[in-house]
Amino acid sequence: MEDLYYSDYIELDQILTSQHPKSFESLEEGNDEMLFIIVHQVYELWFKQILFELDLVRHIFVRDKINDNSDDLSRVVHKLKRIGKILELINQQVNVLETMTSLDFLEFRNVLLPASGFQSKQFRLIEAKLGLKMEQRFKTEYYKHTRRGSLSEADLQEVNQAEGESTLKELIIKWLERMPFFEEEYWLEYKPTSQANPVDRHRFWVDYRNAYQTSLSQNETGRLKEFDNVFFEEGRGRVPPAAMRAALFITIYRNLPILHLPFELLNTLSEIDELLSNWRYRHFMMVRRMIGLRVGTGGTSGAGYLEGTLSQHYAFREITEVATFLIERSKRPILPNALKEKVSFNL
Ligand code: HEM
Repeated sequence: MEDLYYSDYIELDQILTSQHPKSFESLEEGNDEMLFIIVHQVYELWFKQILFELDLVRHIFVRDKINDNSDDLSRVVHKLKRIGKILELINQQVNVLETMTSLDFLEFRNVLLPASGFQSKQFRLIEAKLGLKMEQRFKTEYYKHTRRGSLSEADLQEVNQAEGESTLKELIIKWLERMPFFEEEYWLEYKPTSQANPVDRHRFWVDYRNAYQTSLSQNETGRLKEFDNVFFEEGRGRVPPAAMRAALFITIYRNLPILHLPFELLNTLSEIDELLSNWRYRHFMMVRRMIGLRVGTGGTSGAGYLEGTLSQHYAFREITEVATFLIERSKRPILPNALKEKVSFNL
């Protein structure tokens, strides 16, 4: 067998012959379109790697039972953290494109019409596979048609299909719902600090709710109603109450050895949301500088649309908002030994 040659292995010729600026032919006429194309290509390559990692994580989670004590969970956390590192890197990359000024951009902006990053199928797939739903998007009408500047029909179909498959968010919810923390055998020795249990709730949660109530300041008393709603009635957003309770429990008792990884997992999901949001912000600010208030090449309102996506396109909002319901460490109910043993590595 012939020895592999570096450029053949990574198919470098194909990559390096894929930059074809449309606004100039000779180097003398050259402008920033080359930079614009290369930066977009680099982004798309990183999007591809993110999708690869995401598919792998979803594949691990799709199994009915993932063992929290095995390699499964540490692999999941490791891959998600890698996605975080890539997002950090692509946030930095905005700096390179921002060396282009708005006048530099105007030199070639018209040649790319009506193409736009709005048509990045891979970006939409990342959002969909994380768990962002169409109806949750800012200005959903932009996504519903396939006219000039929008996603092609085939791309939109692929995004819709990804949204309909098990998204990471749905898999996380199922995993949270499976948490065995409240099986009665572990709670026999629990010493409740509250007397009454008017709504037939687990005595741990009655105690926790009381502690939460005393932690609220006067102008926050409405939060108690919210607590009941989030953890015992409707849940929050698309996360049902049982999964919200598990997420809160993991967050409060993250010092227990076996909850380290589950906590890392939840924390990394919030981090991914935050880093993606940082990217949206950097991109939005860059767009303001480049085109001011003009409409985008993809036909949206431009910066206005991008600003709207900032606060609306979180995939794991509910997980991050668990922080609303935390209490101080010293006020946490003391867990019974049977449960501590169950959730420790010393079994
Ligand atoms: C001069 C630099 C850039 C300008 C002026 C710009 C402008 C815009 C505008 C106006 C939109 C809104 C859709 C539209 O109407 O066109 C948009 C969306 C988008 N752009 Fe850019 N963009 C730039 C660079 C980039 C880069 C480097 C990427 C990397 C892939 C990118 C990816 C995206 C994505 C993914 C969207 C969709 C965002 C969403 O819907 O949440 N853009 N861009």
